[in-house]
Amino acid sequence: MKKRIEINVALEVFAKEEWSEIDASLLAEAERILEIAHAPYSNFLVGAALLLEDGQIFSANNQENVSFPVGVCAERAVLSYAMGNNPNTAPVKLAIVAKRRAGMELATVTPCGLCRQTINEYEFKFGKPIEILMLGPGDEMYRASGIDQLLPFRFSDLNS
Ligand code: THU
Repeated sequence: MKKRIEINVALEVFAKEEWSEIDASLLAEAERILEIAHAPYSNFLVGAALLLEDGQIFSANNQENVSFPVGVCAERAVLSYAMGNNPNTAPVKLAIVAKRRAGMELATVTPCGLCRQTINEYEFKFGKPIEILMLGPGDEMYRASGIDQLLPFRFSDLNS
């Protein structure tokens, strides 16, 4: 072996008492909107709420399609809409809440690969990390400080 490249990543977990007011609002909004997702094929409900640096909050849910690959995740839905309408305002926090099906307890979902790459795009565009908050059962909030923690070896030139 000529060299070994190692990146350490971490998620931090916070109890409800430790959440900031804005974290609680974003998680509540993601939890509200997951209930009205269009997910008749998987029944898996996902809500995402995005905070922009100017204080605006946007939210969306997963939108499935009878042609399965056409479906869109909650995270990409909210990022596309919010960034499409606010191309000059950095996103700063993204909350994600999911349930395996209506009426079940929360599933602790981390974003899929496509969504991670999309989050990376807007971190790169604005040069600012996007905190990713994921809610689990028992009011435990998992926090990634930025996409580095979820997509450490992303598409990039290792030598630049
Ligand atoms: N889904 C999301 O909305 N976000 C994720 O991060 C993972 C998966 C959606 C896609 C599909 O509608 C359903 O959850 C099951 O995969």
